[in-house]
Amino acid sequence: MIEKYLYINTIGCQMNVYDSERIAQVLKTLQYKLTSSVEKADLIIVNTCAIREKAEQKVFSFLGRLSGMKKGKPGLIIGVGGCVAQQDGEKVLARMPFVDIVFGTHAIARLPEMIKKVESGKSRVVNVDMAPEIYEFQPVEETKNSGSTSRFVTIMQGCDNYCTYCVVPYVRGREMSRLPADIIKEITGLAKSGVREITLLGQNVNSYGKKEGLCSFPEMLESINEINSIQRIRFTTSHPKDLSLDLIKSFKNLDKLCKHFHLPVQSGSDRILKKMNRKYTSKHYFEKISTLRDYCPEIAISSDFIVGFPGETESDFMETLEMIKTVGFDSLFAFKYSDRPNAPASRLLNKISDAEKKKRLKILLEFQKTITLEKNKSLIGSTQEVLVEGLSKKESTAGGNGIKKRIPLQWTGRTSTNKIVNFTGYENCGSHKEKITGKLIRVRIDRALSNSLQGKSMSERPKSSDNKGEESYAA
Ligand code: 5AD
Ligand code: SF4
Repeated sequence: MIEKYLYINTIGCQMNVYDSERIAQVLKTLQYKLTSSVEKADLIIVNTCAIREKAEQKVFSFLGRLSGMKKGKPGLIIGVGGCVAQQDGEKVLARMPFVDIVFGTHAIARLPEMIKKVESGKSRVVNVDMAPEIYEFQPVEETKNSGSTSRFVTIMQGCDNYCTYCVVPYVRGREMSRLPADIIKEITGLAKSGVREITLLGQNVNSYGKKEGLCSFPEMLESINEINSIQRIRFTTSHPKDLSLDLIKSFKNLDKLCKHFHLPVQSGSDRILKKMNRKYTSKHYFEKISTLRDYCPEIAISSDFIVGFPGETESDFMETLEMIKTVGFDSLFAFKYSDRPNAPASRLLNKISDAEKKKRLKILLEFQKTITLEKNKSLIGSTQEVLVEGLSKKESTAGGNGIKKRIPLQWTGRTSTNKIVNFTGYENCGSHKEKITGKLIRVRIDRALSNSLQGKSMSERPKSSDNKGEESYAA
């Protein structure tokens, strides 16, 4: 049989990363093998993002680069999936004459039949129908070692909140939760394949199962906490208005739940929060943070902010900075407001100039940088438990000249509070890579940077027979 190769370019959020894994999975049925070389590919899929204009520009600039490739390789199939595909449908075909397939956010399971149609010469195909169920195929059964320590699992998709700036409800559809049994089966399979950390994904995980009358999100966390070789559980994203006391208590009660909460607030101004349709005030937000810290004092908090929402005044922006100072976030993401075609805020007047948005973004990020660095510095001298993800990037690309040097290897991992830690301590034990990766190791922190921590391992070297990943190597 002739080998066929699939190249996927994933743009955007973690949910797209997960969806791309699904795409690769369903296309195995058509004998497509994943490749990291775009030139080698017989099928190129672009999994797109529409959240901000910049992400959309990235999609079309990548697609533009593919236009010439088809001339040299007539059999090449090009597919566009994800949020831009859902949003623009047929329009993608009109704009990009070399694209063969446009499939929406609910159409992954239908992709093989769409490809078969194109392969048999039956013109170009578009499918942006919203399916009544989430992921119309069986959970992945992973049997052999997948090689990754950490994986995403989508537990719900879509959103019913309609924040006025946001495109998600239009491109991902109404909120829908997967069945608990399917989720548990999938995570158990991943655990068997060597995965130690799971990040549960959904636009608003706090309302998991509510509409369908399934179990609650904290109950789902409890069940996952019982899965033996899963060591860490994370989740994203939450809406402050739906954050329940039960979920807050989970941070105290569930040993595997990581002590990190990503709680996007978007603005510190009540006037802007109202225009955004966020349905909470800054006071409510502070109360939730304070309760979280009462139950779990060491919890790290991160957030998302939008600067330059239509009508945002200098004084609204000051309130945002004030909020950042009051909460003392461990880290945050901030974005310049961007008009989205379907989102109601695009019709608001008093748009903020790009120069002003840029200025506010810079001020905000610099303001936070100092706070992050202070928080990181406070960890110098402490010992942190780190889940090892592998050799640090610098190490895995170094040493091309074949000369062996006796220098300590740099490993990388994260604390429960989601801080990146690069550490030494297993001198010249590259052969132990597979034994250390996926383990919980104790690291003494000796240096703090604004994006990461550095330290030295305090754990014993794992013994050769220890390869199950259930145990931690506490010194
Ligand atoms: N403009 C800028 N940022 C946006 N976000 C969502 N929509 C927009 C938009 N139109 C940001 C929000 C959200 C994050 C995923 O993206 O901060 O939490
Ligand atoms: Fe978008 Fe708001 Fe839904 Fe988040 S909660 S996905 S910002 S509409």
